[in-house]
Amino acid sequence: MADWNHKDLVSLEELKAEEIGQILDLADSVKAKPKDFKKALKRRVLAMIFQKPSTRTRVSFETGIYQLGGIGMYLGANDMQLGRGETIADTAKVLSRYVDLIMARVFAHDDIVQLAKHATVPVINGLSDYNHPCQILADLQTIREHKGKLEGLRLVYIGDGNNVAHSLLFGCAKMGMHVVVVHAEGFAPLPAVVEKATGFANESEGSVAVSTSIEAVEAADIVYTDVWASMGQEAEHEERLKLFKSYQVNSDLMKRAKPDAIFMHCLPAHRGEEVTDEVVDSPQSVVLDEAENRLHAQKAVMILVSSVK
Ligand code: CP
Ligand code: NVA
Repeated sequence: MADWNHKDLVSLEELKAEEIGQILDLADSVKAKPKDFKKALKRRVLAMIFQKPSTRTRVSFETGIYQLGGIGMYLGANDMQLGRGETIADTAKVLSRYVDLIMARVFAHDDIVQLAKHATVPVINGLSDYNHPCQILADLQTIREHKGKLEGLRLVYIGDGNNVAHSLLFGCAKMGMHVVVVHAEGFAPLPAVVEKATGFANESEGSVAVSTSIEAVEAADIVYTDVWASMGQEAEHEERLKLFKSYQVNSDLMKRAKPDAIFMHCLPAHRGEEVTDEVVDSPQSVVLDEAENRLHAQKAVMILVSSVK
């Protein structure tokens, strides 16, 4: 295995294109021959801290570490002393005395940054309000499987300029893709993210664009959407339904993309809101492959970060 230098996975912005490629190649190998990796993390313990709910992240990490020979431990943040005011730094230092890896899903991105800073064991970001790197690694693996490449493909993300949009901007720009974020007025991705992603795209010969016009879906190889109100934004849900109404991914919108375009969604989907049943259940939809690939991509990440001396 080629050398790996990153103790933590906090954001895709920290990885070189070759390193993302290395994760994807290993994810493909793990997927093709899972038994070859059944002792890769023998007896290792993964602590999984959740400040928010999860289906895919929890199950894919817990299954993944078990299939690699280790065990996962679910820690709901409110069941920990973290929920009663113990600091992130103390939590990180104490957990590092027991476990071999930490995965955390948090609200404030700085919580992940602090965990990684204070833990002596690897820390993996399982989603923050800022980004969702594991999701986008699985997405890139899925795109490669369906399209045979990443470079030069046009991915149009439609909806809220949220955590998933941010990681898509970083990951796709690094990999030489043309990434467009089409957002409702007032819900653009963070300007600092767009600026950084544009810098990555300049190096990879990809491109980054941000728009409020759904006409940008023209010539898309990949159409991607996510919920209009993320976890923690439930109070804004009703208001957002009105503001995002014209950004629904439905059959009419899919017809404007390339005829062989694929549809992607990180899930969970709010059917009838950001996407219709007919799109999410259509032959163009690869959402279940994306969900499955969380398992393989995260096994690759756990193996690589555990190899850092
Ligand atoms: N896509 C994703 O992270 O799903 P969960 O919220 O179910 O983990
Ligand atoms: N943007 C969504 C992604 C869920 C996987 C959220 O943060 O709720």
